[in-house]
Amino acid sequence: MRKSFEKFLARQEALARQYGEAYEEKQHNRGKLTARERIEFLFDEGTFEEVDAYSPSATTSFGKTVRSYGDGVITGFGNINGRQVFAYSQDFNVQGGSLGSVHAAKIIKVQDMALKTGSPVVGLIDSGGARIQEGVASLAGYAGIFRRNVLASGVIPQISVIMGPAAGGAVYSPALTDFIFMTAATSYMFVTGPNVVKQVLNETISPEELGGASVHAVKSGVADFVFNDDENTLRGVKMLLSYLPSNNIENAPYLATDDPADRIEESLRDLVPEDPDKPYDVRNIIRLITDKGKFLEIAENYAPNIIIGLARFGGYVTGIVANQPQVMAGTLDMNSSVKAARFINFCDSFNIPILTLEDVPGFLPGADQEHAGIIRHGAKLLYAYTRATVPKITVVLRKSYGGAYIVMNSKGIGGDYNFAWPTAEIAVMGPEGAIAILYHKELAAAEDPVALKKELLAQYREEVANPYIANEKGFIDEVIDPSVTRLKIIRVLKSLEKKSVSLGIWAPQINLGMQKPWFT
Ligand code: HXC
Repeated sequence: MRKSFEKFLARQEALARQYGEAYEEKQHNRGKLTARERIEFLFDEGTFEEVDAYSPSATTSFGKTVRSYGDGVITGFGNINGRQVFAYSQDFNVQGGSLGSVHAAKIIKVQDMALKTGSPVVGLIDSGGARIQEGVASLAGYAGIFRRNVLASGVIPQISVIMGPAAGGAVYSPALTDFIFMTAATSYMFVTGPNVVKQVLNETISPEELGGASVHAVKSGVADFVFNDDENTLRGVKMLLSYLPSNNIENAPYLATDDPADRIEESLRDLVPEDPDKPYDVRNIIRLITDKGKFLEIAENYAPNIIIGLARFGGYVTGIVANQPQVMAGTLDMNSSVKAARFINFCDSFNIPILTLEDVPGFLPGADQEHAGIIRHGAKLLYAYTRATVPKITVVLRKSYGGAYIVMNSKGIGGDYNFAWPTAEIAVMGPEGAIAILYHKELAAAEDPVALKKELLAQYREEVANPYIANEKGFIDEVIDPSVTRLKIIRVLKSLEKKSVSLGIWAPQINLGMQKPWFT
Protein backbone atom coordinates (compact mmCIF):
# COMPACT_ATOMS: atom_id res chain seq x y z
CA MET A 1 0.00 0.00 0.00
CA ARG A 2 1.28 3.46 -0.81
CA LYS A 3 2.49 5.49 2.19
CA SER A 4 0.15 8.35 1.49
CA PHE A 5 -2.82 5.97 1.60
CA GLU A 6 -1.66 4.39 4.90
CA LYS A 7 -1.80 7.77 6.59
CA PHE A 8 -5.23 8.40 5.09
CA LEU A 9 -6.54 5.12 6.56
CA ALA A 10 -4.85 5.68 9.92
CA ARG A 11 -6.72 8.95 10.33
CA GLN A 12 -10.01 7.24 9.50
CA GLU A 13 -9.34 4.55 12.10
CA ALA A 14 -8.46 7.13 14.74
CA LEU A 15 -11.73 8.94 14.08
CA ALA A 16 -13.71 5.68 14.31
CA ARG A 17 -12.02 4.94 17.68
CA GLN A 18 -13.18 8.29 18.97
CA TYR A 19 -16.77 7.18 18.40
CA GLY A 20 -16.39 3.74 20.02
CA GLU A 21 -18.99 1.72 21.90
CA ALA A 22 -18.30 3.31 25.29
CA TYR A 23 -18.91 6.65 23.71
CA GLU A 24 -22.30 5.58 22.34
CA GLU A 25 -23.31 3.98 25.61
CA LYS A 26 -22.66 7.19 27.52
CA GLN A 27 -25.06 9.11 25.31
CA HIS A 28 -27.67 6.32 25.13
CA ASN A 29 -27.70 6.14 28.94
CA ARG A 30 -28.76 9.77 28.92
CA GLY A 31 -31.74 8.77 26.73
CA LYS A 32 -30.21 10.44 23.67
CA LEU A 33 -28.85 9.42 20.29
CA THR A 34 -25.23 10.31 19.59
CA ALA A 35 -24.43 13.34 17.44
CA ARG A 36 -23.61 11.01 14.52
CA GLU A 37 -26.73 8.85 14.92
CA ARG A 38 -28.83 12.00 14.83
CA ILE A 39 -27.26 13.06 11.55
CA GLU A 40 -27.78 9.59 10.08
CA PHE A 41 -31.43 9.59 11.15
CA LEU A 42 -32.08 13.08 9.79
CA PHE A 43 -30.63 12.68 6.29
CA ASP A 44 -31.73 10.44 3.43
CA GLU A 45 -29.63 7.29 3.66
CA GLY A 46 -26.08 7.60 2.39
CA THR A 47 -26.37 11.24 1.34
CA PHE A 48 -24.57 13.04 4.18
CA GLU A 49 -21.15 14.46 3.32
CA GLU A 50 -19.14 15.45 6.37
CA VAL A 51 -16.62 18.26 6.21
CA ASP A 52 -13.85 19.17 8.67
CA ALA A 53 -14.16 15.86 10.51
CA TYR A 54 -10.48 15.99 11.44
CA SER A 55 -10.12 19.56 12.65
CA PRO A 56 -8.36 19.37 16.04
CA SER A 57 -9.57 21.40 19.00
CA ALA A 58 -7.74 24.59 19.81
CA THR A 59 -8.36 24.25 23.55
CA THR A 60 -5.02 24.16 25.31
CA SER A 61 -5.33 26.37 28.36
CA PHE A 62 -6.39 26.19 32.01
CA GLY A 63 -5.16 22.59 32.37
CA LYS A 64 -8.13 21.39 30.34
CA THR A 65 -6.69 20.59 26.94
CA VAL A 66 -9.24 19.01 24.60
CA ARG A 67 -7.94 16.30 22.30
CA SER A 68 -10.60 15.42 19.81
CA TYR A 69 -11.08 15.29 16.11
CA GLY A 70 -13.80 17.64 15.00
CA ASP A 71 -13.87 19.74 18.19
CA GLY A 72 -17.23 18.38 19.32
CA VAL A 73 -19.40 19.09 16.30
CA ILE A 74 -20.23 17.18 13.10
CA THR A 75 -20.86 19.44 10.12
CA GLY A 76 -21.79 18.92 6.48
CA PHE A 77 -24.59 18.60 3.97
CA GLY A 78 -26.86 15.99 2.45
CA ASN A 79 -30.43 15.43 1.31
CA ILE A 80 -33.61 15.42 3.33
CA ASN A 81 -36.68 14.26 1.36
CA GLY A 82 -34.43 14.56 -1.71
CA ARG A 83 -33.53 18.23 -1.15
CA GLN A 84 -30.17 19.65 -0.07
CA VAL A 85 -29.84 20.77 3.55
CA PHE A 86 -26.77 21.81 5.59
CA ALA A 87 -26.52 20.73 9.22
CA TYR A 88 -24.39 20.65 12.32
CA SER A 89 -24.73 18.29 15.23
CA GLN A 90 -23.08 19.09 18.55
CA ASP A 91 -21.45 16.30 20.51
CA PHE A 92 -22.12 16.46 24.24
CA ASN A 93 -19.38 13.89 24.82
CA VAL A 94 -16.70 16.42 23.87
CA GLN A 95 -16.53 18.98 26.67
CA GLY A 96 -20.30 19.04 27.06
CA GLY A 97 -20.76 20.11 23.41
CA SER A 98 -19.29 23.46 24.40
CA LEU A 99 -18.36 25.88 21.65
CA GLY A 100 -14.62 26.28 21.10
CA SER A 101 -13.16 28.40 18.31
CA VAL A 102 -12.72 25.47 15.89
CA HIS A 103 -16.23 24.21 16.67
CA ALA A 104 -17.55 27.69 15.86
CA ALA A 105 -15.53 27.99 12.65
CA LYS A 106 -17.01 24.69 11.44
CA ILE A 107 -20.58 25.86 12.09
CA ILE A 108 -19.84 29.17 10.38
CA LYS A 109 -18.53 27.32 7.35
CA VAL A 110 -21.79 25.40 6.87
CA GLN A 111 -23.84 28.55 7.48
CA ASP A 112 -21.87 30.31 4.73
CA MET A 113 -22.22 27.37 2.34
CA ALA A 114 -25.95 27.14 3.00
CA LEU A 115 -26.39 30.83 2.29
CA LYS A 116 -24.28 30.62 -0.88
CA THR A 117 -26.24 27.67 -2.22
CA GLY A 118 -29.70 28.74 -1.02
CA SER A 119 -30.20 25.69 1.23
CA PRO A 120 -31.82 25.38 4.67
CA VAL A 121 -29.66 24.92 7.79
CA VAL A 122 -30.56 22.59 10.65
CA GLY A 123 -28.64 22.90 13.93
CA LEU A 124 -28.79 19.95 16.35
CA ILE A 125 -27.89 21.51 19.68
CA ASP A 126 -26.57 19.71 22.75
CA SER A 127 -24.24 22.20 24.38
CA GLY A 128 -23.02 23.80 27.59
CA GLY A 129 -22.45 27.11 25.75
CA ALA A 130 -19.21 29.01 25.28
CA ARG A 131 -16.16 26.82 26.05
CA ILE A 132 -14.85 28.31 29.24
CA GLN A 133 -11.15 27.53 28.64
CA GLU A 134 -11.11 29.31 25.28
CA GLY A 135 -12.42 32.56 26.71
CA VAL A 136 -12.97 35.38 24.28
CA ALA A 137 -12.21 33.17 21.25
CA SER A 138 -15.34 31.14 21.96
CA LEU A 139 -17.42 34.27 22.57
CA ALA A 140 -16.21 35.59 19.21
CA GLY A 141 -17.24 32.25 17.71
CA TYR A 142 -20.80 32.74 18.93
CA ALA A 143 -20.78 36.29 17.61
CA GLY A 144 -19.87 34.95 14.15
CA ILE A 145 -22.69 32.40 14.28
CA PHE A 146 -25.28 34.94 15.45
CA ARG A 147 -24.21 37.34 12.69
CA ARG A 148 -24.79 34.67 10.06
CA ASN A 149 -28.12 33.71 11.63
CA VAL A 150 -29.22 37.30 11.16
CA LEU A 151 -27.83 37.64 7.62
CA ALA A 152 -29.54 34.39 6.61
CA SER A 153 -32.85 35.37 8.24
CA GLY A 154 -35.59 35.51 5.62
CA VAL A 155 -33.17 34.19 2.97
CA ILE A 156 -32.90 30.49 3.85
CA PRO A 157 -34.98 28.56 6.40
CA GLN A 158 -33.08 28.00 9.66
CA ILE A 159 -34.20 25.35 12.12
CA SER A 160 -32.79 24.70 15.60
CA VAL A 161 -33.30 21.40 17.36
CA ILE A 162 -32.56 21.33 21.08
CA MET A 163 -31.63 17.77 22.05
CA GLY A 164 -29.83 18.30 25.34
CA PRO A 165 -28.73 21.38 27.23
CA ALA A 166 -28.65 24.72 25.47
CA ALA A 167 -27.04 27.04 27.95
CA GLY A 168 -25.62 30.54 27.72
CA GLY A 169 -24.60 31.45 24.18
CA ALA A 170 -26.19 28.25 22.89
CA VAL A 171 -29.68 29.74 23.25
CA TYR A 172 -29.28 32.86 21.17
CA SER A 173 -28.54 31.22 17.86
CA PRO A 174 -31.79 29.20 18.08
CA ALA A 175 -33.67 32.34 19.09
CA LEU A 176 -32.52 34.00 15.87
CA THR A 177 -33.64 31.08 13.70
CA ASP A 178 -37.12 30.43 12.28
CA PHE A 179 -38.23 27.39 14.28
CA ILE A 180 -37.15 25.69 17.50
CA PHE A 181 -37.77 22.01 18.23
CA MET A 182 -37.16 20.52 21.68
CA THR A 183 -36.96 16.92 22.82
CA ALA A 184 -38.98 16.55 26.03
CA ALA A 185 -37.21 15.22 29.15
CA THR A 186 -33.66 15.56 27.75
CA SER A 187 -33.55 19.17 26.64
CA TYR A 188 -33.58 22.52 28.34
CA MET A 189 -32.72 26.08 27.40
CA PHE A 190 -31.67 28.98 29.58
CA VAL A 191 -29.47 32.03 29.35
CA THR A 192 -28.22 31.53 32.91
CA GLY A 193 -28.48 28.15 34.58
CA PRO A 194 -29.76 27.05 38.01
CA ASN A 195 -26.33 27.60 39.64
CA VAL A 196 -26.26 31.26 38.66
CA VAL A 197 -29.91 31.68 39.70
CA LYS A 198 -28.96 30.33 43.12
CA GLN A 199 -25.94 32.61 43.42
CA VAL A 200 -27.63 35.81 42.27
CA LEU A 201 -31.20 35.39 43.51
CA ASN A 202 -30.77 32.68 46.15
CA GLU A 203 -33.55 30.70 44.49
CA THR A 204 -33.43 26.95 43.99
CA ILE A 205 -34.82 25.77 40.69
CA SER A 206 -34.27 22.65 38.59
CA PRO A 207 -33.13 22.86 34.96
CA GLU A 208 -36.54 21.54 33.84
CA GLU A 209 -38.46 24.13 35.86
CA LEU A 210 -36.20 26.88 34.60
CA GLY A 211 -36.13 26.02 30.91
CA GLY A 212 -37.55 22.57 30.15
CA ALA A 213 -39.49 21.79 26.99
CA SER A 214 -42.90 22.32 28.58
CA VAL A 215 -41.88 25.72 29.98
CA HIS A 216 -40.83 26.87 26.52
CA ALA A 217 -43.77 25.30 24.69
CA VAL A 218 -46.42 26.73 27.02
CA LYS A 219 -45.10 29.76 28.92
CA SER A 220 -42.28 31.47 27.06
CA GLY A 221 -43.25 30.55 23.49
CA VAL A 222 -39.59 29.83 22.69
CA ALA A 223 -40.28 26.25 21.47
CA ASP A 224 -42.44 25.72 18.40
CA PHE A 225 -42.48 21.91 18.50
CA VAL A 226 -41.91 19.39 21.28
CA PHE A 227 -41.53 15.64 20.73
CA ASN A 228 -40.95 12.86 23.22
CA ASP A 229 -37.62 11.50 21.94
CA ASP A 230 -34.79 12.19 19.50
CA GLU A 231 -36.23 10.07 16.65
CA ASN A 232 -39.66 11.71 16.74
CA THR A 233 -38.11 15.16 17.02
CA LEU A 234 -36.05 14.52 13.89
CA ARG A 235 -39.15 13.13 12.09
CA GLY A 236 -40.85 16.41 12.98
CA VAL A 237 -37.97 18.39 11.44
CA LYS A 238 -38.30 16.43 8.19
CA MET A 239 -42.05 17.03 8.17
CA LEU A 240 -41.60 20.78 8.62
CA LEU A 241 -38.97 20.91 5.86
CA SER A 242 -41.42 19.22 3.47
CA TYR A 243 -43.52 22.42 3.63
CA LEU A 244 -40.68 24.89 3.18
CA PRO A 245 -38.91 26.22 0.10
CA SER A 246 -35.11 25.98 0.13
CA ASN A 247 -34.73 29.75 -0.02
CA ASN A 248 -36.59 33.01 -0.54
CA ILE A 249 -36.41 32.82 -4.35
CA GLU A 250 -38.11 29.45 -4.68
CA ASN A 251 -41.70 28.49 -4.01
CA ALA A 252 -42.61 25.96 -1.33
CA PRO A 253 -42.72 22.38 -2.66
CA TYR A 254 -45.94 21.66 -4.59
CA LEU A 255 -47.47 18.26 -3.80
CA ALA A 256 -50.06 16.95 -6.24
CA THR A 257 -53.15 15.69 -4.43
CA ASP A 258 -56.10 13.46 -5.31
CA ASP A 259 -58.25 15.42 -2.86
CA PRO A 260 -60.65 17.22 -5.26
CA ALA A 261 -60.41 21.01 -5.37
CA ASP A 262 -64.21 21.17 -5.65
CA ARG A 263 -64.87 18.92 -2.65
CA ILE A 264 -68.11 20.21 -1.09
CA GLU A 265 -68.27 20.03 2.71
CA GLU A 266 -71.86 20.52 3.76
CA SER A 267 -71.01 19.97 7.43
CA LEU A 268 -69.24 23.35 7.39
CA ARG A 269 -72.66 25.02 7.29
CA ASP A 270 -73.35 23.87 10.85
CA LEU A 271 -69.91 24.14 12.45
CA VAL A 272 -70.27 27.70 13.70
CA PRO A 273 -72.86 27.64 16.52
CA GLU A 274 -76.05 29.73 16.16
CA ASP A 275 -75.38 31.25 19.58
CA PRO A 276 -72.63 33.86 19.02
CA ASP A 277 -71.27 33.28 22.51
CA LYS A 278 -70.80 29.56 22.07
CA PRO A 279 -67.22 28.39 21.49
CA TYR A 280 -66.04 25.85 18.90
CA ASP A 281 -62.70 24.47 17.78
CA VAL A 282 -61.56 26.25 14.61
CA ARG A 283 -59.26 23.30 13.89
CA ASN A 284 -62.37 21.32 12.91
CA ILE A 285 -62.91 23.84 10.11
CA ILE A 286 -59.25 23.78 9.07
CA ARG A 287 -59.24 19.99 8.76
CA LEU A 288 -62.29 20.04 6.51
CA ILE A 289 -60.82 22.44 3.97
CA THR A 290 -57.12 21.52 3.58
CA ASP A 291 -55.75 18.80 1.29
CA LYS A 292 -56.62 15.48 2.94
CA GLY A 293 -57.31 17.30 6.21
CA LYS A 294 -53.60 17.73 6.94
CA PHE A 295 -52.42 20.63 9.06
CA LEU A 296 -49.00 21.09 10.66
CA GLU A 297 -49.77 23.23 13.69
CA ILE A 298 -46.94 25.38 15.08
CA ALA A 299 -46.60 26.37 18.75
CA GLU A 300 -49.91 24.71 19.55
CA ASN A 301 -49.65 25.13 23.31
CA TYR A 302 -48.47 28.73 23.40
CA ALA A 303 -51.05 31.53 23.06
CA PRO A 304 -53.66 28.96 21.94
CA ASN A 305 -56.22 31.73 21.35
CA ILE A 306 -54.62 31.97 17.93
CA ILE A 307 -53.78 28.97 15.75
CA ILE A 308 -50.93 29.05 13.23
CA GLY A 309 -49.59 26.39 10.94
CA LEU A 310 -48.94 25.07 7.45
CA ALA A 311 -51.21 23.13 5.12
CA ARG A 312 -51.78 22.63 1.41
CA PHE A 313 -54.66 23.70 -0.80
CA GLY A 314 -54.75 21.95 -4.19
CA GLY A 315 -51.09 21.09 -3.61
CA TYR A 316 -49.95 24.65 -2.79
CA VAL A 317 -48.43 25.27 0.64
CA THR A 318 -50.34 27.93 2.57
CA GLY A 319 -49.84 29.41 6.02
CA ILE A 320 -52.99 29.50 8.14
CA VAL A 321 -53.71 32.05 10.87
CA ALA A 322 -56.98 31.36 12.68
CA ASN A 323 -58.61 32.85 15.76
CA GLN A 324 -59.55 30.10 18.19
CA PRO A 325 -62.99 30.84 19.75
CA GLN A 326 -62.44 27.92 22.12
CA VAL A 327 -59.74 29.82 24.06
CA MET A 328 -60.44 33.26 25.56
CA ALA A 329 -63.24 33.59 22.97
CA GLY A 330 -60.49 34.03 20.37
CA THR A 331 -59.56 37.52 21.60
CA LEU A 332 -56.22 38.97 20.56
CA ASP A 333 -53.76 39.53 23.37
CA MET A 334 -50.06 40.33 23.33
CA ASN A 335 -48.79 36.78 23.04
CA SER A 336 -51.18 35.77 20.27
CA SER A 337 -50.41 38.96 18.34
CA VAL A 338 -46.67 38.37 18.47
CA LYS A 339 -47.08 34.65 17.71
CA ALA A 340 -49.09 35.36 14.56
CA ALA A 341 -46.95 38.34 13.49
CA ARG A 342 -43.77 36.28 13.56
CA PHE A 343 -45.41 33.54 11.49
CA ILE A 344 -46.76 36.02 8.94
CA ASN A 345 -43.28 37.50 8.56
CA PHE A 346 -41.90 34.02 7.99
CA CYS A 347 -44.53 33.19 5.34
CA ASP A 348 -43.94 36.53 3.65
CA SER A 349 -40.19 35.93 3.49
CA PHE A 350 -40.61 32.49 1.95
CA ASN A 351 -43.35 33.07 -0.64
CA ILE A 352 -46.01 31.22 1.33
CA PRO A 353 -49.55 32.64 0.89
CA ILE A 354 -51.52 33.37 4.06
CA LEU A 355 -55.09 32.27 4.75
CA THR A 356 -56.80 33.98 7.69
CA LEU A 357 -59.84 32.38 9.33
CA GLU A 358 -61.43 35.08 11.42
CA ASP A 359 -63.68 34.93 14.47
CA VAL A 360 -62.48 37.56 16.90
CA PRO A 361 -64.46 39.74 19.25
CA GLY A 362 -61.58 42.23 19.67
CA PHE A 363 -58.41 42.87 21.60
CA LEU A 364 -58.34 41.59 25.19
CA PRO A 365 -59.25 44.50 27.46
CA GLY A 366 -57.72 45.24 30.88
CA ALA A 367 -54.92 46.94 32.77
CA ASP A 368 -52.67 43.86 32.58
CA GLN A 369 -52.57 43.94 28.80
CA GLU A 370 -52.46 47.74 28.49
CA HIS A 371 -49.62 48.10 31.01
CA ALA A 372 -47.61 45.30 29.45
CA GLY A 373 -47.83 46.89 26.03
CA ILE A 374 -50.74 45.48 24.02
CA ILE A 375 -50.51 48.63 21.92
CA ARG A 376 -46.98 47.95 20.69
CA HIS A 377 -47.42 44.17 20.50
CA GLY A 378 -50.79 44.38 18.71
CA ALA A 379 -49.19 46.80 16.26
CA LYS A 380 -46.70 44.09 15.30
CA LEU A 381 -49.57 41.98 13.96
CA LEU A 382 -51.06 44.91 12.08
CA TYR A 383 -47.63 45.72 10.65
CA ALA A 384 -46.88 42.14 9.62
CA TYR A 385 -50.18 41.70 7.76
CA THR A 386 -49.94 45.08 6.08
CA ARG A 387 -46.33 44.66 5.02
CA ALA A 388 -46.72 41.08 3.70
CA THR A 389 -46.75 40.97 -0.10
CA VAL A 390 -47.59 37.28 -0.52
CA PRO A 391 -51.19 36.36 -1.49
CA LYS A 392 -53.48 37.12 1.47
CA ILE A 393 -56.96 35.65 1.79
CA THR A 394 -59.45 36.07 4.63
CA VAL A 395 -62.59 34.14 5.46
CA VAL A 396 -64.70 35.79 8.17
CA LEU A 397 -66.41 32.90 9.96
CA ARG A 398 -68.23 34.83 12.65
CA LYS A 399 -67.09 37.83 14.71
CA SER A 400 -65.08 40.57 13.13
CA TYR A 401 -65.28 43.59 15.36
CA GLY A 402 -63.45 46.87 15.70
CA GLY A 403 -59.66 47.00 15.56
CA ALA A 404 -59.55 43.24 15.26
CA TYR A 405 -61.56 43.49 12.00
CA ILE A 406 -58.91 45.76 10.57
CA VAL A 407 -55.92 43.81 11.87
CA MET A 408 -56.98 40.35 10.68
CA ASN A 409 -56.10 41.03 7.05
CA SER A 410 -58.99 43.29 6.17
CA LYS A 411 -59.33 44.66 2.64
CA GLY A 412 -58.05 48.04 3.78
CA ILE A 413 -54.65 46.71 4.86
CA GLY A 414 -54.19 44.69 1.70
CA GLY A 415 -56.32 41.54 1.79
CA ASP A 416 -56.46 40.18 -1.78
CA TYR A 417 -59.68 38.20 -1.39
CA ASN A 418 -61.95 38.65 1.58
CA PHE A 419 -64.80 36.19 1.96
CA ALA A 420 -67.43 35.93 4.68
CA TRP A 421 -69.76 33.17 5.75
CA PRO A 422 -73.43 34.09 6.31
CA THR A 423 -72.73 33.76 10.06
CA ALA A 424 -70.30 36.71 9.91
CA GLU A 425 -70.86 39.72 12.18
CA ILE A 426 -68.82 42.67 10.92
CA ALA A 427 -69.16 45.95 12.84
CA VAL A 428 -67.43 48.53 14.99
CA MET A 429 -68.31 46.61 18.12
CA GLY A 430 -70.43 43.70 19.36
CA PRO A 431 -74.20 44.14 19.83
CA GLU A 432 -74.10 44.39 23.64
CA GLY A 433 -71.49 47.17 23.68
CA ALA A 434 -73.13 49.07 20.83
CA ILE A 435 -76.55 49.08 22.48
CA ALA A 436 -75.15 50.11 25.87
CA ILE A 437 -73.57 53.17 24.24
CA LEU A 438 -76.28 54.17 21.78
CA TYR A 439 -79.42 53.37 23.83
CA HIS A 440 -78.38 53.84 27.47
CA LYS A 441 -80.99 56.56 28.04
CA GLU A 442 -83.83 54.57 26.45
CA LEU A 443 -82.87 51.42 28.38
CA ALA A 444 -82.73 53.33 31.69
CA ALA A 445 -86.22 54.77 31.08
CA ALA A 446 -87.82 51.61 29.68
CA GLU A 447 -90.62 49.85 31.50
CA ASP A 448 -89.24 46.49 30.42
CA PRO A 449 -85.49 47.00 29.75
CA VAL A 450 -84.90 43.27 29.16
CA ALA A 451 -87.47 43.13 26.36
CA LEU A 452 -86.16 46.36 24.82
CA LYS A 453 -82.60 45.08 24.94
CA LYS A 454 -83.60 41.84 23.25
CA GLU A 455 -85.38 43.76 20.51
CA LEU A 456 -82.41 46.11 19.99
CA LEU A 457 -79.93 43.22 19.86
CA ALA A 458 -81.95 41.53 17.11
CA GLN A 459 -82.28 44.82 15.23
CA TYR A 460 -78.51 45.48 15.50
CA ARG A 461 -77.69 42.03 14.09
CA GLU A 462 -80.20 42.49 11.30
CA GLU A 463 -79.20 46.01 10.32
CA VAL A 464 -75.54 46.38 11.30
CA ALA A 465 -73.62 43.27 12.43
CA ASN A 466 -73.87 41.09 9.33
CA PRO A 467 -71.66 40.42 6.29
CA TYR A 468 -73.97 41.99 3.71
CA ILE A 469 -73.22 45.67 4.29
CA ALA A 470 -69.47 44.97 4.05
CA ASN A 471 -70.13 42.97 0.87
CA GLU A 472 -72.19 45.74 -0.73
CA LYS A 473 -69.46 48.27 0.07
CA GLY A 474 -66.74 46.01 -1.41
CA PHE A 475 -64.94 45.32 1.88
CA ILE A 476 -66.00 41.69 1.50
CA ASP A 477 -65.63 40.32 -2.03
CA GLU A 478 -68.25 37.63 -1.61
CA VAL A 479 -70.48 36.11 1.04
CA ILE A 480 -70.07 32.38 0.42
CA ASP A 481 -71.81 29.15 1.25
CA PRO A 482 -69.43 27.61 3.86
CA SER A 483 -69.57 24.26 2.03
CA VAL A 484 -67.58 25.67 -0.93
CA THR A 485 -64.85 27.34 1.12
CA ARG A 486 -62.12 24.95 -0.09
CA LEU A 487 -63.00 25.52 -3.72
CA LYS A 488 -63.03 29.31 -3.33
CA ILE A 489 -59.64 29.29 -1.57
CA ILE A 490 -58.02 27.12 -4.24
CA ARG A 491 -59.45 29.25 -7.05
CA VAL A 492 -58.19 32.53 -5.63
CA LEU A 493 -54.82 31.04 -4.70
CA LYS A 494 -54.39 30.08 -8.35
CA SER A 495 -55.46 33.51 -9.50
CA LEU A 496 -52.86 35.04 -7.16
CA GLU A 497 -50.03 32.77 -8.26
CA LYS A 498 -48.28 35.59 -10.12
CA LYS A 499 -49.15 38.31 -7.62
CA SER A 500 -46.42 40.93 -7.61
CA VAL A 501 -46.34 43.95 -5.35
CA SER A 502 -43.56 46.46 -4.81
CA LEU A 503 -43.58 48.24 -1.51
CA GLY A 504 -43.13 51.98 -1.87
CA ILE A 505 -39.56 53.10 -1.42
CA TRP A 506 -38.29 56.62 -1.29
CA ALA A 507 -35.31 57.10 -3.57
CA PRO A 508 -33.54 60.46 -3.65
CA GLN A 509 -33.40 61.82 -7.19
CA ILE A 510 -29.97 62.92 -8.34
CA ASN A 511 -30.12 66.55 -9.43
CA LEU A 512 -28.12 66.86 -12.62
CA GLY A 513 -28.05 70.61 -12.58
CA MET A 514 -31.39 71.32 -14.26
CA GLN A 515 -32.43 73.41 -11.29
CA LYS A 516 -30.62 76.38 -9.89
CA PRO A 517 -29.30 76.07 -6.31
CA TRP A 518 -31.64 77.78 -3.84
CA PHE A 519 -29.09 80.45 -2.85
CA THR A 520 -28.63 82.07 -6.26
C1 HXC B 1 -16.20 23.85 28.89
C2 HXC B 1 -17.84 22.45 29.66
C3 HXC B 1 -18.80 23.48 29.54
C4 HXC B 1 -18.35 24.75 29.07
C5 HXC B 1 -19.79 21.70 30.26
N1 HXC B 1 -18.50 21.39 30.11
N2 HXC B 1 -20.00 23.00 29.94
N3 HXC B 1 -16.56 22.64 29.33
N4 HXC B 1 -17.07 24.88 28.75
N5 HXC B 1 -19.21 25.78 28.91
C6 HXC B 1 -17.89 20.08 30.35
C7 HXC B 1 -17.83 19.71 31.84
O1 HXC B 1 -16.71 20.25 32.44
C8 HXC B 1 -17.77 18.18 31.74
O2 HXC B 1 -16.43 17.83 31.42
C9 HXC B 1 -18.61 17.86 30.52
O3 HXC B 1 -18.68 19.07 29.76
C10 HXC B 1 -20.03 17.46 30.87
O4 HXC B 1 -20.56 18.43 31.75
P1 HXC B 1 -21.27 18.02 33.14
O5 HXC B 1 -21.41 19.26 33.92
O6 HXC B 1 -20.55 16.89 33.75
O7 HXC B 1 -22.68 17.51 32.59
P2 HXC B 1 -24.13 17.77 33.16
O8 HXC B 1 -24.15 17.48 34.62
O9 HXC B 1 -25.05 17.01 32.27
O10 HXC B 1 -24.39 19.33 33.00
C11 HXC B 1 -24.45 19.94 31.74
C12 HXC B 1 -24.51 21.48 31.88
C13 HXC B 1 -23.37 21.96 32.80
C14 HXC B 1 -25.86 21.88 32.47
C15 HXC B 1 -24.44 22.05 30.46
O11 HXC B 1 -22.16 21.39 32.34
C16 HXC B 1 -23.25 23.45 32.82
O12 HXC B 1 -23.99 24.12 33.52
N6 HXC B 1 -22.31 23.97 32.02
C17 HXC B 1 -22.09 25.42 31.95
C18 HXC B 1 -23.27 26.11 31.29
C19 HXC B 1 -23.10 27.59 31.17
O13 HXC B 1 -23.27 28.34 32.11
N7 HXC B 1 -22.69 28.03 30.02
C20 HXC B 1 -22.57 29.41 29.74
C21 HXC B 1 -21.24 29.70 29.27
S1 HXC B 1 -21.22 31.47 29.01
P3 HXC B 1 -15.75 16.49 31.93
O14 HXC B 1 -14.32 16.60 31.49
O15 HXC B 1 -15.92 16.47 33.42
O16 HXC B 1 -16.51 15.37 31.25
C22 HXC B 1 -21.79 31.71 27.45
C23 HXC B 1 -21.72 33.15 27.06
C24 HXC B 1 -22.17 33.42 25.68
O17 HXC B 1 -22.17 30.85 26.75
C25 HXC B 1 -23.22 34.46 25.73
C26 HXC B 1 -23.62 34.90 24.37
C27 HXC B 1 -24.91 35.71 24.39
